[in-house]
Amino acid sequence: MEQYAIKGGNPLVGEVEIGGAKNAALAILAASIMTDETVLIENMPDIRDTNVMMHAIESIGGSVEKLDRHTVKISGKSVRNMAIEDDSVKKIRASYYFLGAMLGKYKRAQVTLPGGCNIGLRPIDQHIKGFRALGADVRIEHGLVIAEAAHLHGSHIYMDVSSVGATIDVMMAAVMADGQTIIENAAKEPHVVDVANFLNSLGAVIKGAGTDVIRIRGVRRLHGTEYAIIPDQIEAGTFMFAAAVTKGDVTVKNVIPKHLESISAKLNEIGCEVEESDDAVRVVAAKPLTHTHVKTLPYPGFPTDMQPQITVALGLSRGTSIVTESVFENRFKYVDELTRMGASIKVEGGNTAIIDGVNRYTGASVSAPDLRAGAALVIAALSAEGISVIDDIKFIERGYEDFHIKLKSLGAQIEKVDSERELQKFRLKTG
Ligand code: EPZ
Repeated sequence: MEQYAIKGGNPLVGEVEIGGAKNAALAILAASIMTDETVLIENMPDIRDTNVMMHAIESIGGSVEKLDRHTVKISGKSVRNMAIEDDSVKKIRASYYFLGAMLGKYKRAQVTLPGGCNIGLRPIDQHIKGFRALGADVRIEHGLVIAEAAHLHGSHIYMDVSSVGATIDVMMAAVMADGQTIIENAAKEPHVVDVANFLNSLGAVIKGAGTDVIRIRGVRRLHGTEYAIIPDQIEAGTFMFAAAVTKGDVTVKNVIPKHLESISAKLNEIGCEVEESDDAVRVVAAKPLTHTHVKTLPYPGFPTDMQPQITVALGLSRGTSIVTESVFENRFKYVDELTRMGASIKVEGGNTAIIDGVNRYTGASVSAPDLRAGAALVIAALSAEGISVIDDIKFIERGYEDFHIKLKSLGAQIEKVDSERELQKFRLKTG
């Protein structure tokens, strides 16, 4: 089983290119089959989850052609099968985007109930509520979500929670419905806006994405497009916090600084210098980190997907910090692993972590419980004294392209090892 072997202590220094946004790419891939014409997508991240989505498109008869590692040509023209039952799709959350895309275009969809990171209940009741409001019959049978409609009509839908997935899914289902759809209490994340922009480039008429009221005027059909996905704000934020934790000096390139504002603000608060330019942000951690409080919120609040990373940084910050997770019910599972590295954190009521900063982490063998927690444990290991081994790195590779290679380019002592012998070699090499 592949693992990361890490020798901590090196400050991360240098520049790193940020890839396309995973959570935009997954939805855009599903949406790309809504037209029979060819769609060219650039800045596609080459990660496990996007490749699972591409296999799923091929499994229903769509065509996928990779022009290079980050550019893909998709055509939904030859889609015949409305049932996505590809086994690997069960493991990812974004499979539900095929519901909105196929219901929107074919008025019928059958998709296995979504999987994804084990960070909470993760229901899809708001997706189903939106589809039903548009006139679809939706039922769950044998682990499948089946949605069908003789006709889809516009509707005024009020989301009970600000849900990224439900906002995007309902938006896709509505783009070819008859009449106008209004989505109230819509999610405002940059990837929601990116998907709306993509759909508009296919000929949809969507206004208000990025605010909490999105208006969609149904059109009869969609045409082809060429589109480049926005940079990944969470990949960028992960490297920014890696700079903070290793007392480094890292510039993340090919980013949209506006999307990183809440992350930059918190890094400033804990004592880092943050310099923004047009498409890059530099983080210098010259002083000891200091404590703060943070609560995860829907955009533009501090992202839940950055919660494990800031907790690792606060674990090394002088004083007592509090991190409150307000989006998911069970997103502190990794704290047990971090404790093995010497962190002093108490989780109360399931969604509040009280953190007493320690001077340093020590290397340990830990397992990644999910994607972002796994990345956070890597960051902790990069600062720890001694050698750490990170297990279950498949979770990390679902969402981070070339994670260990990019870290190595910044000076980290990290290798991907696949056997005890390779691990021993790493231990000998790094002493
Ligand atoms: C997306 O998940 C992302 N995943 C998550 O990123 C991210 O953490 C999350 O949005 C919040 O930003 C993808 O885009 C593939 P939600 P999603 O619907 O759509 C509740 C990562 O690390 N809810 O915005 O599942 C839900 O339980 C992953 O990249 C309902 O109650 O998140 C949660 O408490 C992890 N009913 C809250 O809303 C619903 O029908 C926000 O969930 C849907 C959601």
